[in-house]
Amino acid sequence: MKIVKNIFLSLALCSFSIISFAGEGMWLPLLLKSLNEGEMQSMGMKLSAEDIYSVNKSSLKDAIVHFGGFCTSEIISSEGLMLTNHHCGYGQIQSHSSIDNNMLKNGFWAMTKEEELANPGLFARFINRIDDVTEMALAGVKEGMSDKERQSIIDKNLEAVKKNYTLEEFQDVMIRPFYNGNQYFAFVTTTFNDVRLVGAPPESIGKFGSDTDNWVWPRHTGDFSLFRIYAGPDNKPADYSADNVPYKPKHFLPISLDGVEEDDFTLIFGFPGRTNQYLPGVAVEQTMNTLNPAKIKIRDTALKIIDKYMREDEEVRIQYASKFARVANYWKKWIGENQGLKSTDALGRKAKFEADFVKNNESENGKSLLTAFNKAYNDIEEVALTRDYYQEIAIRNIELLNMQRAIRSLVSRYDENGEKGYTDFLPRVKGYLDGFYKNYQPKIDQEVFAALTEMYGSEAKEMYIPKTLKTASMASKEGYRALADQIYTNTLFTDHVKVTEVLDLTPEQAVAKIKNDAAYKLGVEWESLYNSTIADPYSRQKNEIDSLQRIYMQSIIETFPKQKFYPDANSTMRVTYGQVKGYRPKDAVHYTPVTYLDGVIEKYVPDDYEFDVSDKLLQLHRTKDYGQYADTNGKVPVCFIGSNHTTGGNSGSPAIDAHGNLIGLNFDRVWEGTMSDINYDPSICRNIMVDARYILFIVDKYAGAGHLIDEMKLVHPKKDMKVTETIPKKKKTWKWWKR
Ligand code: ARG
Ligand code: GLU
Repeated sequence: MKIVKNIFLSLALCSFSIISFAGEGMWLPLLLKSLNEGEMQSMGMKLSAEDIYSVNKSSLKDAIVHFGGFCTSEIISSEGLMLTNHHCGYGQIQSHSSIDNNMLKNGFWAMTKEEELANPGLFARFINRIDDVTEMALAGVKEGMSDKERQSIIDKNLEAVKKNYTLEEFQDVMIRPFYNGNQYFAFVTTTFNDVRLVGAPPESIGKFGSDTDNWVWPRHTGDFSLFRIYAGPDNKPADYSADNVPYKPKHFLPISLDGVEEDDFTLIFGFPGRTNQYLPGVAVEQTMNTLNPAKIKIRDTALKIIDKYMREDEEVRIQYASKFARVANYWKKWIGENQGLKSTDALGRKAKFEADFVKNNESENGKSLLTAFNKAYNDIEEVALTRDYYQEIAIRNIELLNMQRAIRSLVSRYDENGEKGYTDFLPRVKGYLDGFYKNYQPKIDQEVFAALTEMYGSEAKEMYIPKTLKTASMASKEGYRALADQIYTNTLFTDHVKVTEVLDLTPEQAVAKIKNDAAYKLGVEWESLYNSTIADPYSRQKNEIDSLQRIYMQSIIETFPKQKFYPDANSTMRVTYGQVKGYRPKDAVHYTPVTYLDGVIEKYVPDDYEFDVSDKLLQLHRTKDYGQYADTNGKVPVCFIGSNHTTGGNSGSPAIDAHGNLIGLNFDRVWEGTMSDINYDPSICRNIMVDARYILFIVDKYAGAGHLIDEMKLVHPKKDMKVTETIPKKKKTWKWWKR
């Protein structure tokens, strides 16, 4: 075993190709038959490609839902019951909460369908079919055309392709570029708009471990929530109505009670957002050595300030918890990403791949392409870095500068469309401001402002620094603090009452006041400098890089005709598959792939906001009241990891076993492997899933919502298989280093 592992590790590490390993790749469902079926079956899958994706019969894809466009979810009953992550349903759960009925804190369980809660604006989208429309999309496109010419032909072609589809009124067709614009696929979708909240565990389960455990294995989070799709009486999409009925799906996933063990086949089906697997080395180097460190440093500074105040004051903690989590999520991800890029020698691998590419590429193109990349990334570096600084500082982390953009949008409406433009837009801005001030502490923001403007002033090149900041830095040693003080004292925008008073004046008066505000003035000054010195050159250079990347991608595919390449994620439906697998995060440490409720209790810190455990759960653990949800070892599993290649957007995706049953719910990746967006490595890239049995255990034993369990179809695929088929005692391990 040890030798096998070592061979595996060294082979994985010295492999320099960027083709897929078992585990690597986000594949298009309609191409599984030609590209993946054989490999999937040799890894243990008992399904056919047609069982996963078919347009002629119901298939797994009919149970997969794009949840609000930002997460994935899946249908788990014949009555349209839908499973997704707690962090995906967070906004909805929060919006139904009040001080008296805090569903984030206490959880929520609809005990009858009448108690299920409507969520205006939330949609559930199915994919009806996928078509390769490349030929039509690229008709008339010739080599040597300018990008503009090329794009305008494609745009016209795509319009024509869309017209070819006959759609129901609730259907739509969207066409997306793949392989950096070398291929085009069309997706026919059906969207439901009546999606109701059915259940959510308390945060002490659904967000257990919070930011400390985020991106971390071993993990013990029950990150799930339940929704239901409602349809009109004809089972077709309909706007919300009390007369709507639970949707009868074409397919729903049965849930396995048999659990997982190491090396079991796993399939993840969902909507991964964005990856960059085919970047040239120079781009990876820029991300790793220039852009990531800058973004990490900025967020680090902001987070430290916020954290200090959150620890001092419970009210602040509640106000800033969600914002903190959002900023911390990618801060932590980038740190892990950089570490992983180094530990897997991503740059060395890219260099080897590029050498191979140049050697095998028949024309001279290979070399000149890489030279062009070097120049292009060199040229863009300064503006790309400053752009990140601007966006992280002036847009994301200084709240005052972000919110003044909303108020400013009123001014532009007024300038463009007069009083009517202003008045029509006012309710939206007021709505936004109501939410903003609920969770806003000017003194924290002021401190962040002083620290981040100082960082910008000292790190950005002179030409990118707005005059106001320059003057501050020259005024005194304490210049930025003084500037912050001056702006936060003078602006009206830190005070909800004062802003409301202004907005209630006549549009003309209000606009005059806004235009005179200190925060507004700095916002305008900084943004117009940004637009003229950064935004324009950036987008020009980025277009050039995009077009090089398209040619490079095409060239890679042509240069290595025997290899199969998966397209980068682009929020379209994908299948990824791998195995349940532990890993070695560092020297002498080995992580096993399953965690248990015992581990929740080990992490328990009474009254801690991240690691508290409710009495009810403590009691279930004490009395071992696990019902049918315990593993054969008598313990309740909580999470498990696998070698599936996932990214943001895959949250809420089902983990599916060899037979098509639900075994888990994807919600995260391990920290050491977050560089999988750029450089997947089978030795340390793992996705994290909640074990289906933990979800059932919480719904049944914790929440007492047995009626929901009754709706589901619980199965025993492993037990059943033992009866019908004889399986070898020791399962054959898939030799995934051998391809
Ligand atoms: N890291 C996961 C993702 O990227 C979970 C984020 C939500 N949880 C949190 N503690 N911030 O979305
Ligand atoms: N938590 C992520 C999401 O919301 C999934 C984790 C990842 O990036 O893999 O989509």
